[in-house]
Amino acid sequence: MRRIDTQSLPDTAAGIDRAADILRAGGLVAFPTETVYGLGADARNDTAVARIFGAKNRPRFNPLIVHLPDTDAAKTLCHWSDEAEVLASAFWPGALTLVLPLRDGHGLSPLVTAGLETAALRVPAHPLATSLLRAVGAPLAAPSANPSGRISPTVAAHVHAGLDGRIDAVLDGGACAVGVESTIVGLDGPPTLLRPGGIPTEAIEAALGGPLGLPVASGSPTAPGQLASHYAPRARLRLNADEPAPGELYLGFGPGGGTLNLSASGDLIEAAANLFGHLHRLDAMNAPAIAVARVPETGLGRAINDRLRRAAAPRG
Ligand code: TXA
Ligand code: MG
Repeated sequence: MRRIDTQSLPDTAAGIDRAADILRAGGLVAFPTETVYGLGADARNDTAVARIFGAKNRPRFNPLIVHLPDTDAAKTLCHWSDEAEVLASAFWPGALTLVLPLRDGHGLSPLVTAGLETAALRVPAHPLATSLLRAVGAPLAAPSANPSGRISPTVAAHVHAGLDGRIDAVLDGGACAVGVESTIVGLDGPPTLLRPGGIPTEAIEAALGGPLGLPVASGSPTAPGQLASHYAPRARLRLNADEPAPGELYLGFGPGGGTLNLSASGDLIEAAANLFGHLHRLDAMNAPAIAVARVPETGLGRAINDRLRRAAAPRG
């Protein structure tokens, strides 16, 4: 990955404006929330979201939390419910993430939702995060701003140490008050604790007036099997193919064309951004099989291949 110059932006009107400009242009800006620093990108922009996975060197496309300035913004993206109203009134803005069913025309990148019919939404409580979200005017996907497998950052210096040269800017808002990631509650069925975090489980149960369920063992959205099934096209996938066999569509990578091509120039960020959209488009052509060109097992290529292998795995 080419090194880029990572700017440090201050907690001022000018700093927020600059950060918002970068985000609107598809760049990556780390920003403070009350839990941890998030690595933000425009959640509607496939390429920007793909860059998050590249910068963090994440081997897998797990779904990302979508950050919003207020509850009204959440209601435009997802179907609302009585439980959502109770929890949002009690804990937003704050360290709670709600997983809710998506509305049609939500506009989020499939890289953010990992192809699920739900999205994880959060209204953070840090004033700088709120100002930034209002200035950008778009939902921001933001996992913790650390390289994959490393400790989450709670001050701007942690972010610089881990990601300098890989992201466009860090908006410095001092230390994060909460320091652990948000609690995630699933509301696409009976209320379920998906991740313990910054808001205690007991407080959530008290607000709901009943216990939270636990996810069924294999039902976690990050569990390999379940995510695979969400991506699997109807057509059979044949990976590492040098060329299509008769009757197969061909998903190319690099020079050599294809029915569709992930990136003619062999750019893995472009390929990651195109992956899910291209698979959907090829599947809509109703061929029995799709041959997929070899994608290098480096950088974002590992995440792309992980997804392709899940999509090609035998169906349950
Ligand atoms: O405190 C936080 O939540 C931090 C700060 C930056 O806001 N953000 C954070 O985001 O931890 P992220 O994107 O790393 O959280 C991703 C996790 C996934 O691993 C998954 O557990 C859950 O959120 N998640 C996201 N979308 C989901 C969905 N549709 N269904 C179930 N879980 C989902
Ligand atoms: Mg993290």
